Amino acid sequence: MRRARPGALLLLALGLAACPEDPQAPARRARAAESPSEAPPPWAEPWRPALVACAPCHERVFREWSESAHARAWTDRNARQSSREFARVECRACHAPQAVLATGLDAIAVEREVQREDGVHCLSCHGLSRGEAGVAALRDLPAAPCRPRRVEALATNALCFPCHEPRQGTLGEFARSAAAARGELCSTCHFPAQPGRLGRSHGDWGGANERFVRTGLRFDCRIEGAELVVALQNLTPHRFPAESRSRALVLRVEHFSGAVEHRSFRRPNEDESQVDERLLPDERRELRFALPEGASPARVEALMKSFPLQPDAAAFVLGRWP
Ligand code: HEC
Ligand code: HEC
Ligand code: HEC
Ligand code: HEC
Ligand code: HEC
Repeated sequence: MRRARPGALLLLALGLAACPEDPQAPARRARAAESPSEAPPPWAEPWRPALVACAPCHERVFREWSESAHARAWTDRNARQSSREFARVECRACHAPQAVLATGLDAIAVEREVQREDGVHCLSCHGLSRGEAGVAALRDLPAAPCRPRRVEALATNALCFPCHEPRQGTLGEFARSAAAARGELCSTCHFPAQPGRLGRSHGDWGGANERFVRTGLRFDCRIEGAELVVALQNLTPHRFPAESRSRALVLRVEHFSGAVEHRSFRRPNEDESQVDERLLPDERRELRFALPEGASPARVEALMKSFPLQPDAAAFVLGRWP
């Protein structure tokens, strides 16, 4: 594959179209118009891998996206196992989706028949309707090769709806949250703005990122008489842990006697009858533990497990006391 430096291409694109002071520009523009480019336009062929269609000019965003769960949606081992290698067709829609702006933002995503390995690929979010030229962006840049076009919805939570609402209800939870009242979006946290850069990071800002997960919970302990009181504050605008049935928030209380108590919060599977005890959006919850020896416990930890049977020692530590 031919890889071009994004900087060089950017200069080329600007030189071709947006540099009136350059005396060579009109001639170059004319030549470019005469020789039709061999490559089809970036948006036109959803069967081309993102590596070919977008990466040559958007290397940084591509690299970030490659580390995100969106890029792994089709190849993720858990998803493949639980969908029986996607033989369960109802699992394909969001894990290899077509352009949601084309299939509709108020309905569940629609399965893509081509290039499924890319999972939630660039055109799942930036693709427009078939036959429409260009990609969805926050502003019109008619001179750029991919012809970005301003699409309001790209900067709203509606973009996330087709995949994050139908089975999870996350947008419904968010609607009543403090973050929503502050005018924040899902992307405020999950596509964070980057210092010194116009754009946002498409990277791994989710449950696999320990530092990021820690920003979602405040954890305090105190002793009241013969009780340990653990206060948990959900700092996210959705359930904690969010969406995933694999994650579990676990409180681990270790006493001086060596005895260990666990309390676990996880989204139940569809076939489980237990109630969903995860923290609600913005909720502050206090939990009380009797202290058998009447003394402080040796150690209290708030852990996030990536899967329910993960050993305590391998989990993310979100808080520790004393
Ligand atoms: C041949 C090079 C090239 C290819 C291929 C390409 N782009 Fe672009 N793209 C550009 C240039 C140049 C800009 C303008 C950058 C600027 O002005 O900051 C741009 C801008 C954008 C923007 C708007 C960014 C902004 O600053 O507002 C988006 C979104 C975008 N591209 C998405 C895509 C996607 C998705 C693909 C693949 C389907 C793609 N591009 C393929 C060159 C390319
Ligand atoms: C409505 C869209 C949608 C459909 C349909 C869908 N998923 Fe997902 N899936 C998601 C989203 C969004 C996530 C990321 C959040 C999460 O982990 O729940 C996800 C994540 C997953 C994960 C990763 C969980 C983890 O943490 O490892 C697995 C496994 C999974 N899905 C399996 C399935 C299976 C099996 C089906 C079919 C029965 C299915 N999905 C259908 C949207 C969907
Ligand atoms: C076209 C479908 C689709 C759209 C649109 C979409 N997502 Fe996802 N998202 C998924 C799927 C599928 C996964 C799970 C991939 C996996 O782990 O198998 C996921 C995973 C995630 C995760 C988990 C990340 C991690 O590292 O665990 C976050 C956070 C997320 N999406 C946020 C968003 C936000 C914010 C938006 C809107 C700006 C959005 N998504 C739009 C389908 C989508
Ligand atoms: C899950 C949806 C989603 C996917 C997948 C996605 N994007 Fe984006 N992208 C967005 C959103 C949302 C924004 C606008 C964020 C904001 O509000 O500033 C954006 C912004 C951009 C921008 C302009 C900002 C910047 O950082 O330069 C570019 C360029 C871009 N995307 C390219 C890509 C490319 C290339 C891919 C694939 C490698 C891709 N996107 C995959 C949702 C997505
Ligand atoms: C104030 C910041 C913030 C906002 C806004 C936010 N989230 Fe989150 N989100 C987090 C944090 C922190 C986590 C990790 C802890 C957890 O699982 O709850 C997370 C977890 C997730 C996960 C699970 C990732 C995984 O792999 O377990 C998904 C999916 C997700 N958020 C989607 C969304 C969607 C969709 C929206 C908008 C409706 C949204 N988030 C708004 C902070 C935020």
